[in-house]
Amino acid sequence: MSNVAVVGTQWGDEGKGKIIDLLTENADIVARYQGGNNAGHTVIIKDNEFTLHLIPSGILHKDKKCVIGNGVVINPKALLEEISELENKGIEVNESNLYISKSAHVTMPYHIASETLKEERERGRIGTTLRGIGPTYVDKAARMGIRMCDLIDPDIFRAKLEENLDQINVLFEKIYGVKGFQVNKIFDEYSGYVEKLAPFIKDTVFMLNKAIDEGVSILFEGAQGALLDIDHGTYPYVTSSNSTAGGICTGLGVGPTKIDSIIGVVKAYTTRVGEGPFPTELKGDLGNKLRNAGPIGEYGRSTGRPRRCGWFDGVITGYSAMLNGLSRVAVTRLDILDDLEEINVCIAYEYNNKRLEEFPYRSDILQQCKPIYEKLPGWMESTVDTREYSRLPKNAQKYLNRLSELMNVPISIISVGPQRRQTIFVEKNL
Ligand code: GDP
Ligand code: IMO
Ligand code: MG
Repeated sequence: MSNVAVVGTQWGDEGKGKIIDLLTENADIVARYQGGNNAGHTVIIKDNEFTLHLIPSGILHKDKKCVIGNGVVINPKALLEEISELENKGIEVNESNLYISKSAHVTMPYHIASETLKEERERGRIGTTLRGIGPTYVDKAARMGIRMCDLIDPDIFRAKLEENLDQINVLFEKIYGVKGFQVNKIFDEYSGYVEKLAPFIKDTVFMLNKAIDEGVSILFEGAQGALLDIDHGTYPYVTSSNSTAGGICTGLGVGPTKIDSIIGVVKAYTTRVGEGPFPTELKGDLGNKLRNAGPIGEYGRSTGRPRRCGWFDGVITGYSAMLNGLSRVAVTRLDILDDLEEINVCIAYEYNNKRLEEFPYRSDILQQCKPIYEKLPGWMESTVDTREYSRLPKNAQKYLNRLSELMNVPISIISVGPQRRQTIFVEKNL
């Protein structure tokens, strides 16, 4: 029995959904600690494809409990839609398998509208998912946010909403020059949502800690990736939460001593959606080839946007291993590189005619960094049916060893396709 965390090590979309689904077998509870419905975690079970946005990927396993922690921001409409999509596919979601924290902050229509206006009109677009995630966290930090526990009490909810709209409508009308929001309209709409969600809203902090004391195994599900972390990522081109392992403690109310191991999910190359520096990006044919290779191309699961693709970057992944204190890594989408004759791996950057081996904190500096590549021979052989490490082509083994060396973390899982069975367990009993 142990509590394991799964986190993204790059700019998101590393394949966390697939790895979480595999590791859910060994867990009793799967808990999300940050982000919101900006996340899109894919799990493929035979011919069924599921994309989870707010609900932990563990929901697809019968008899497992799922927790949406206090650090997550919740759009109740999107959550209800996700529940009904799952139910339409035969997955049961009820109050005994889904627990929503009372302290989780709620995304309101004005959060989405203000983000859309900012992204459309202001300089320095971030290329967000337009889900209102950033503005929801802004209100949380400004201590004016509305939490799930506020929604349940109509008097508190109305009073907070009125107070918020007094300020927010001035911003919309006077600064943006657009119509503001009506208290009654939002109140009625959200009261309808909370009626349906009320049975799920619980004290998740005590529930989780009691479970841990009883020896129940928890799987902590990270969203996004280390380079999108608000503190440690490519600021300001980041999301608005702590996607690194530190976020687990604050986002669920679980102390650091309760986390036994941290598995970083790393794609065998790199992708990014939205704006921001990406030193190893491939803009030409090779980038398109990576985007469209394999059964599922590199297109965002939440927004459908094409993902920017590039070579593996040992500087950012080494940094990410350090930030997260990774115990092991799971390498995904190795099969996408199957037919490349030669593969580049970035081992350092060149900046101002100097070699840079550490992640620079400023995005303008990272933007000017040129990758220093090491060339590795490809394996030119399909890996999609390989199930044992020793049966992987020798050059694929060499490639994986180099990634592990650059991150200074052992590899425990290798994924060679989106299906559950397309997995190589390098060591059992994680
Ligand atoms: P997440 O946000 O980290 O959960 O990742 P996404 O689900 O957004 O994107 C990963 C994509 O890669 C999904 O479409 C997965 O089905 C797919 N995938 C995961 N592992 C593999 C793999 O090893 N090979 C291939 N070809 N696809 C994979
Ligand atoms: P998963 O969990 C990839 C990116 C957006 C944008 C930036 C800020 O599926 O890996 P936001 O809407 O969060 O304010 O956008 O972060 N982004 C993601 N990119 N995967 C994700 O989640 C992402 N969630 C946010 O594209 O660049
Ligand atoms: Mg995703």
